[in-house]
Amino acid sequence: MNGLKGISDQTLEMHFKLYEGYVNETNKLNEKIYEFLADGKVDQEEMPAYSELTRRMGFEYNGMVLHEYYFGNLTQGGAGDPSAGSPFGKAAEESFGSYYVWKADFIGVGRMRGVGWAICYQNPANGRLSNHWITLHEVGNVSGFIPVLVMDVWEHAYLLDYKPAERQKYIEAFYSNIDWNVVQRRLRQDQQAVPGV
Ligand SMILES: [Fe+2]
Repeated sequence: MNGLKGISDQTLEMHFKLYEGYVNETNKLNEKIYEFLADGKVDQEEMPAYSELTRRMGFEYNGMVLHEYYFGNLTQGGAGDPSAGSPFGKAAEESFGSYYVWKADFIGVGRMRGVGWAICYQNPANGRLSNHWITLHEVGNVSGFIPVLVMDVWEHAYLLDYKPAERQKYIEAFYSNIDWNVVQRRLRQDQQAVPGV
């Protein structure tokens, strides 16, 4: 992917390298944990190291997967806002009263201080959208909710293009490159309640 508006190819290249790091670390963690399990048990003396590796999985796995969602919802020639009457626009309206209120909330979450992610999720039980702040990669994800639109607001996502205090400009650039077709394919449109809810 290249040729985005307001997000340089240089930024994307560096960002892909960072993403690769998460893939590699995730693989390494799985391999190391498997070594502990190879004899069919976790010995008591292995427990501290095994626990530390297992705790890191939330960070590395989410770092990997969220970047896939992020790159996946960007495209050259993105459209800014979705078209009127689109499935996403309707879902936003049903959930927030209007698409523009939803948008103000999503952008507000993205402007929060700290490193993390702004994510619009859909609750598969009732189809409703909600916007959430995720600290680092793993704190704040809602179990079972579907990430629909994912925006990286770690500083590495924009530092080559904007100053740290100019996150708003990056957010505007991100927004102008959204691939709404991808976002809408992530939406569950049957909105059937799922077991356990
Ligand atoms: Fe990132």
